[in-house]
Amino acid sequence: MIDVRNQFPVLEQTINKKPLVYLDSAATSLKPTVLTNRLSWAYENLSANVHRGAHFLSDRATSEFENSRQRVKNFLNASHEDEIVWTSGTTDAINLVAESFCSSMSEGEEILLTQMEHHSNLVPWHIQAKKRKLKIKAIPVTPKGELDLSRLDELITSKTKIVSLSYCSNVLGTINPIETVIKKAHSVGAKVMVDAAQSIMHFPTDVQALDVDFFAFSTHKMFGPFGLGVLYGKKQLLNEMPPFKGGGSMISNVEIDHSEFLEAPQRFEAGTPHIAGVIALPAAIDFIEQMGFSQIKEHDKNLLNMITTELKTIDGLQFMGESENKVGIVSFNIDGCHASDVGHLLNQQGVAVRVGHHCCQPLMKAFGVTSSIRASLSVYNNEDDVERFLKALKKSMEMLT
Ligand SMILES: Cc1ncc(COP(=O)(O)O)c(C=O)c1O
Repeated sequence: MIDVRNQFPVLEQTINKKPLVYLDSAATSLKPTVLTNRLSWAYENLSANVHRGAHFLSDRATSEFENSRQRVKNFLNASHEDEIVWTSGTTDAINLVAESFCSSMSEGEEILLTQMEHHSNLVPWHIQAKKRKLKIKAIPVTPKGELDLSRLDELITSKTKIVSLSYCSNVLGTINPIETVIKKAHSVGAKVMVDAAQSIMHFPTDVQALDVDFFAFSTHKMFGPFGLGVLYGKKQLLNEMPPFKGGGSMISNVEIDHSEFLEAPQRFEAGTPHIAGVIALPAAIDFIEQMGFSQIKEHDKNLLNMITTELKTIDGLQFMGESENKVGIVSFNIDGCHASDVGHLLNQQGVAVRVGHHCCQPLMKAFGVTSSIRASLSVYNNEDDVERFLKALKKSMEMLT
């Protein structure tokens, strides 16, 4: 078992006089001391803007900033650092691709999504569909919580220009077979965007092996800073797309009535970025790499098995999603107990879970519910956390039924 709890001072807190049991890592991961130390270091020592100054501090900040891009390039196995665009998060990255990519689409052309997408991977496409008269289709989800790939041939046609789907569902935990979707999409010339918000901290990524066109994640879910995200895009595709936002740092020439833009990634990085966050990000990558993804996966699997086996013994509990291929996320409802009441009672006992629709209203509708209780695991959770959670859950049920 991984033991990194001493890297997370937040876990020393008590909530309602009970030790904190943090089971909300799908919303955001806790931040290790190595990350917060590096963030403070960046603010204290390199408080200068990048790519602009004619002075030592700016040069040093720029070099650290670009080193981080290189680290992310290696982390994803991208072929070039110019394929790494800094964004403010997954949401920002998807909005960027939706706006820039769809600008070359014509009326009646199609965008394919899935029924299990987070609103971040639905709403930006809805905005484009409305603006440009595009059609949206979605791959349905089976009762087991997996994508119904038997519908793929019918859904991906010559009209499909882009498919955007999550690698892992933030509600079901299901790991989607994105390789199959990518191959099928490419066979008709469509591009694929992967929302990796929930996969990035659970298993390694190889964007070249996947042959994915766009790949986005938020660093706050992988032990990194808030307010920072990454968009990977194939270099040629990025350079064919118009900028998403205009401003400083993204131009090659500006006249009073028009401007010309730099190549990617700069064309997508208008304005002052989250410099300290970018500089600190390698500390989060080091943290992950020191544990190793095989250890992380093993830890996740053991705790997920433990929590699932125990939850199965509770009468009247219905799981959302029972795929064999999933990360450490469990969502469920209990007969006679409203999810928000359960969340409230768990909180009183020091247990942090998420309740509600988890920004996945279409998925909730597909399962015939409006909300669920979600427990999500990470490397700092241990068996003690799972036991405390189950005990608190049983106590909450006694109070509610
Ligand atoms: C699958 C998925 N996509 C996108 C997002 C949005 O991430 P952010 O709010 O960091 O942009 C989330 C956040 O929970 C998510 O789980």
